Amino acid sequence: MNCRGDETQARREERMTNSDNIFEQDIQEHSIRKKLEAIYKEYETRFAGGEFVFGCGLVKPKLLLIGEAPGREEVKLSRPFSGTAGKNLDEFLELAGINRDDIYITNAIKYRLSKVNPKTGKLSNKPAVREEILSSRSYLLREIEMICPYCIATLGNVPLRAVMGDFSVNIGDIHGKPAKIKTEKQEYLLFPLYHPASVIYNRSLREICRQDILKLRELVNVPDSLADSAQSTLL
Ligand code: URA
Repeated sequence: MNCRGDETQARREERMTNSDNIFEQDIQEHSIRKKLEAIYKEYETRFAGGEFVFGCGLVKPKLLLIGEAPGREEVKLSRPFSGTAGKNLDEFLELAGINRDDIYITNAIKYRLSKVNPKTGKLSNKPAVREEILSSRSYLLREIEMICPYCIATLGNVPLRAVMGDFSVNIGDIHGKPAKIKTEKQEYLLFPLYHPASVIYNRSLREICRQDILKLRELVNVPDSLADSAQSTLL
């Protein structure tokens, strides 16, 4: 506006274009969220009776993080990476200079994997087996296509194998090495990371993870416009 409060024609056109773009982005985001909801509903029907926790966060983010499966704490709060694993993940993210609100977080398997502890009779978390990873895989791939991230960081072997569809890969061999992967419709940048919990059980991994996270920080530190155009050229 000029000093009399009149808006110039050029400024008005620019403002209208910006608000049109924001409006279009909102509609697009709403439509993606609806499609994600539909995928999650189908998943609930397929694995009826499970204790579910679905992905959450920003759609079309620069980074999608994929963990293994929710545990007891996640089920309680209906949010991936809520308990101790969440605290470890937050440390990863802080080192990477990434805010949780700016990414999408999900799991390869979206229900709690549990077994009865014969000593206490209580439920405890259990690791995923091949059949569980495979039966959830098609839903994960559809979820990835909806979220359409610039980069996918997998946390540990389970999401790495689920995304790659290859059970011979090992996180120990390919952690910290970016790779291109293809789903049916798109191509993505994949960055395999160790699972945050592995650092608790194996202290010697701490420095290795730190170096990997610093690499991830570099990898996603691209201007939004570049990440956006990479996403759209891949579509
Ligand atoms: N919590 C999750 O949501 N995923 C994991 O892989 C571990 C803990």
